[in-house]
Amino acid sequence: LPRSLVTINDLTNDEIEAIFALADDFLREMPTPGKEWRIGGRISLAEEFVLSTLFYEPSTRTRFSFESAMHRLGGHVISSASRDTTSAAKGESLADTVRVLENYSDVIVLRHPWEGAARVAAEYTDVPVINAGDGSHEHPTQTLCDLYTLRKENESVREKRSFRDLTVLLRGDLKHGRTVHSLVYALARFGAKFIPSPATEDLALPQHVIDRLRREYDCYPASPKDLDEEFLKDVPINAVYVTPDKDKSHQLAWVPEVELSVKVNQIHAFYVTRLQLERADGDSPPTYPKVDSRFLNGSRFRQSSVLHPLPRVEELGYDMDSDSRGVYFKQASYGVPVRMALLAAMLKLRGDILSASPPDANKYEQFDGGGRIECLNGQCVTHLESERRHLKPKFFIVTEDQKHFGGAQPQLTLRCAYCEYEVHPHCLGSKSHRKYDCDPARLSHIRPLSDLVFFNDEQQALEAGYQRYKGTPVHV
Ligand code: NCD
Repeated sequence: LPRSLVTINDLTNDEIEAIFALADDFLREMPTPGKEWRIGGRISLAEEFVLSTLFYEPSTRTRFSFESAMHRLGGHVISSASRDTTSAAKGESLADTVRVLENYSDVIVLRHPWEGAARVAAEYTDVPVINAGDGSHEHPTQTLCDLYTLRKENESVREKRSFRDLTVLLRGDLKHGRTVHSLVYALARFGAKFIPSPATEDLALPQHVIDRLRREYDCYPASPKDLDEEFLKDVPINAVYVTPDKDKSHQLAWVPEVELSVKVNQIHAFYVTRLQLERADGDSPPTYPKVDSRFLNGSRFRQSSVLHPLPRVEELGYDMDSDSRGVYFKQASYGVPVRMALLAAMLKLRGDILSASPPDANKYEQFDGGGRIECLNGQCVTHLESERRHLKPKFFIVTEDQKHFGGAQPQLTLRCAYCEYEVHPHCLGSKSHRKYDCDPARLSHIRPLSDLVFFNDEQQALEAGYQRYKGTPVHV
């Protein structure tokens, strides 16, 4: 299969840097005089190639900048801007649609309301698929634009040629914001600090994202819930370093609605996001202080750039447009050179930027759920009527390391191979022995994987006629 871009973790840091270098080249080679962030003209690099943009959700920046990028590269575009103009409206599965589109185009850009949809598309076609946003899951090309903007517009990143000293404050809907999910993994991977500042406690980063940041990037964001009561007694300090061990400081957390104080010396960037009302559960939208010139009045914010993936609604003041810290229109403009570079990399138009296989391709063993475990995320594409007909739940068996969970008993964790939501089944067993256990250490004893079965709880195991293993498994 060709390289696709479904999550930001489908690219290595080096590949991202190489894409940025190519975006720099395009901006240099195709300038718009006086507007160094804007591409002008057209080159003959992708003349033989056709891009299809398949958008099942509204879009302005992502679709137009992809199409503009392909045109600027000299390539061709076929497009559907809504689900209703495709056969999805007649009940066709996404898997079928992309198997048709691969005959008409060389790369597919997909936006879809269900989480994990882009992974399904990537599995079913033999052309690269680029995820332009799948429900609340991820939006990796927005993250490329965000990082590129931070790199171009931030003095500290430019001077040090690294994201390591950067502190980014993330505001808004961190629960449903797919741009945020891709961004936090990228910031963690590049060593930047970030401060999650959700609009309300309910809109905090999802638990599985936090678990993964801990497990894979040694990155420890905190939520107000994590702060123990002892700590909360001393409320004057509201910005906190939460450290995995005493020598290593990683993640800042900010108790929302309270003024920042001592420990955060400088915020280099505010990443403001809209409340994703279309994905919320019908509650009335929370009120949340607007980021505007008044809000950014403190000396701590003098150098802070303000990013926003856009569209903006109430959360960002129009008075920031004339403030040099507001870089969100440039950020949207960088969508063209960045997406030109990404398309050039995927279609191998300039150099060999992407290696043959994706990073971490075989990091975790894959398990088909044994027909018993379903993804617990109601928005996962495995629950979508049109895909249920052909798609089986599939999981990665994620090995937990105790040190990331405060020495607690390691948990069994299955990560959905599509939406990446994580489930924690309580028991596992061997089909051939008809035995089960609730100790995760049993996992390494049951081989081959086709013999493995998971149960949500003991009751389910007993009902299936399994008996509990005697004795304790040996840890290997
Ligand atoms: C974002 C999206 O679609 O997730 N928009 C974008 O692509 N720039 C952000 C949003 O809709 O709030």
